[in-house]
Amino acid sequence: MGPDRVVIFDTTLRDGEQSPGISLNATEKLEIAHQLARLGVDVIEAGFPIASPGDFEAVRAIAREVHGPVIAGLARAHAADVERAAEAVRDAERPRIHTFISTSDIHIEHQLQSTREDVKGSARAAVAHAKSFVDDVEFSPMDATRADAEFTAEVVQIALDEGATTINVPDTVGYATPQEYARFLTRLYELVPGLRDVVLSVHCHDDLGLAVANTLAGVQAGARQVECAVNGIGERAGNASLEEFVMLLATRAADLGFATGVNTREIARTSRMVSRLTGYPVQPNKAIVGRNAFAHESGIHQDGVLKDRSTYEIMDATTVGLEGNDLVLGKHSGRHALKSALQELGFSVEGQALNTAFKRFKEIADRKKTVTAMDLEALVTDELRDGLRSYTLKWFDVDVSNRRPPHARVAVQTPDGDEVLGDFTGDGPVDAIFRAINAATRREARLREFRIDAVTAGQDALGEASVVLELSGQSASGQGVSTDIIEAAAQAYVRALSNCERKVLAHAQQPALPEAELTPAP
Ligand code: KIV
Ligand code: ZN
Repeated sequence: MGPDRVVIFDTTLRDGEQSPGISLNATEKLEIAHQLARLGVDVIEAGFPIASPGDFEAVRAIAREVHGPVIAGLARAHAADVERAAEAVRDAERPRIHTFISTSDIHIEHQLQSTREDVKGSARAAVAHAKSFVDDVEFSPMDATRADAEFTAEVVQIALDEGATTINVPDTVGYATPQEYARFLTRLYELVPGLRDVVLSVHCHDDLGLAVANTLAGVQAGARQVECAVNGIGERAGNASLEEFVMLLATRAADLGFATGVNTREIARTSRMVSRLTGYPVQPNKAIVGRNAFAHESGIHQDGVLKDRSTYEIMDATTVGLEGNDLVLGKHSGRHALKSALQELGFSVEGQALNTAFKRFKEIADRKKTVTAMDLEALVTDELRDGLRSYTLKWFDVDVSNRRPPHARVAVQTPDGDEVLGDFTGDGPVDAIFRAINAATRREARLREFRIDAVTAGQDALGEASVVLELSGQSASGQGVSTDIIEAAAQAYVRALSNCERKVLAHAQQPALPEAELTPAP
């Protein structure tokens, strides 16, 4: 008998996108969704359509354009949420509505300020309503691992009676241990025999660093869908990391006996894309995708690996796509060479987008001897970043000297198309240009984080800047790429500002729901 197939449900674009400071525009979400399809995930949770018009549009675009995986939209157990999710996923080849309500008394009393009876009613109504739009309905009893198993079982039974096809049991606050989680699921199977006729799913947060361990315990207890996110991003400490869980099943297949449909060679590229577009760096020692995950530092380890890789390596870096990026272009490479290099990297860039990419490529190739696969990835993702209604950096001057404070002047195009000017004398060149942008746009954005990384090694490497700003209580990130680090920083700043403004607007437009029926966004 072959290995048991585990469904990979990717929530990078929903739970992952809820990480503080992340604000992906629709084009960025679509590009990530296409890459998730290439990676071979089974389900893409594309967003939370009622959260904002931007979220709705992104889910709808993914549903229309991304083929292969099931496309899911999240909805609280409320009619308006379910209807919005249904509309957003309607055009998908295989649409799913994922609805949820908390079953823990902590949530019912303090957050929902409701009763167990009302929770049962809301769950019944939400699943029935979702079922009137799509066949594929997932139901989650939120905060299940801190809830009473008997009550959770009653709610799960109601969801099954109304036709739910997947039951997801979240460890919402990352509190459970693997043994407790497995016991909880086993108890649910005992209390709800019908659970064996649908797909049981697990959704684990990493607050105690146990998300992947709990996910494995869940699968060993019978779950056959795993909810996870690329690079483990998500609320607070994040979700179970997709790459860790997939490689756990692949590397230990002989002992565990489970398989996924993921093309593991796409893992590294997916991780880089998500990190780049979200602005969330991957820690160097992160399992599977960290810079050092396959590096050997100590003499003894290096000696062993040179003699035989199996001495200190349990996986081959090529199986996760970490090696083999040896594609190189130079300043004499033409449009055709660029197009086929991009195709090899999984980007299909045509028409005007190809012209823009070619122009940027030429500018960079003039300043840098060779343009590598990593540089091209950084360039193409950079082109996706300017969403609708964005500020654009038109030009800047920065006077830098160690004898007087640096002075910056900038011209910025506003979302309405006006060109505004600003200048500022700051503590350093980056501080000066950031404050000059605030002066030009008349915004009091506060810098929360700033980082510069080199895309590749070498003195002429592209610089990649990431900025997190806060504006009117909303925080958002922006990124920029250039061989000039001041330009990369300024690009990142105007993009973060645009993303903040979009979030402020979306927040102001969020529909008001009756308090008793409202579960705050997960
Ligand atoms: O963590 C959680 O409980 C969630 C649910 C919406 C599944 O994200
Ligand atoms: Zn979650």
